[in-house]
Amino acid sequence: MMAYSLKPLITHQHVERPITWSRQFNRRAPLDVEIGFGLGEFLIRSALAHPQRDYVGIEQHQERVTNALTRMTRTRAATNIRILKIDARLALERLFFPKTITCLYCLFPCPWPKTGHIKHRLFANKFLKIVNSRMKHRGKVVIVTDSRSYIEWILGQVKDTGFHYCLRTVPPQYDTKFERKWHSDGQQNFYELVLTKITHQSVPVKKDTPLQSHALKQFDPRRFYFKDQTGDITVIFKEMLFDPVKDKAMVHLVVAELDITQHFWVSIIKRGKIWRVCKADGQSFLPTPGVARAIELVYATAQC
Ligand SMILES: C[S@@+](CC[C@H](N)C(=O)[O-])C[C@H]1O[C@@H](n2cnc3c(N)ncnc32)[C@H](O)[C@@H]1O
Repeated sequence: MMAYSLKPLITHQHVERPITWSRQFNRRAPLDVEIGFGLGEFLIRSALAHPQRDYVGIEQHQERVTNALTRMTRTRAATNIRILKIDARLALERLFFPKTITCLYCLFPCPWPKTGHIKHRLFANKFLKIVNSRMKHRGKVVIVTDSRSYIEWILGQVKDTGFHYCLRTVPPQYDTKFERKWHSDGQQNFYELVLTKITHQSVPVKKDTPLQSHALKQFDPRRFYFKDQTGDITVIFKEMLFDPVKDKAMVHLVVAELDITQHFWVSIIKRGKIWRVCKADGQSFLPTPGVARAIELVYATAQC
């Protein structure tokens, strides 16, 4: 397997959020975004064809990110691409300042055809409002799909999002894996929806939740029984490791909330006469209300 450069990959957990993209690219240039870039074919081709623009590719699937990084390493020339491995909903909510994106592309988004799965579809009304707020005036969103029912569903979501829309059928022209797949299966035309921003929707950037640490006078790891919590914020206990030499416990939790599920470790460490309950060092996560709640729950449990 070919080695690949991690240089284009932005570890969003470790940079200042929202991201000032001109600093990441070391220049001011029109900023385009592709969601769900798959193998990265369109992203890389666009970046090579338009060296005067900057491109951020968002993809949540690790293997596809690795594939695209390998492809980028091979082409070398594409220095105007940065990659985010994250759910696009979180990225748009937290990582982009309002009014910064010129064009946003999403080619062959997952159509989630089953009725019970419609809730997973990306271009819901709420997401379109977030996208609108991050776009520049007259900025364009291009969505291409093979699925008529998905495009019709999106049209039902566009109301009150500040976009004007234009729908047409187009022949294959994006040359991505999924376009080739549907074309070779016999589909001759696809649906191309272009949304143009005409009025601004104000959706503030989601901020990090401050994380507290807590102090305990006593802590007995043998009496630590964490009760899982379910609801808007779900916190599930996985395990606790305790090192009696270092007087240190590590509590592994899974925290699930609105659009994000994170594995998270809380440490309980003795410092002098006090046990400190806080986020463990050296992990990657986004500081969300769920993570803050997880620390509080560990603190409450450790007190018992
Ligand atoms: C059907 S594939 C299309 C890939 C590529 N655009 C193409 O045309 O070949 C959909 C892609 O979107 C990605 N994806 C789906 N939902 C996403 C989300 N919420 N955030 C980021 N990527 C997402 C998937 O991992 C997958 O790679």
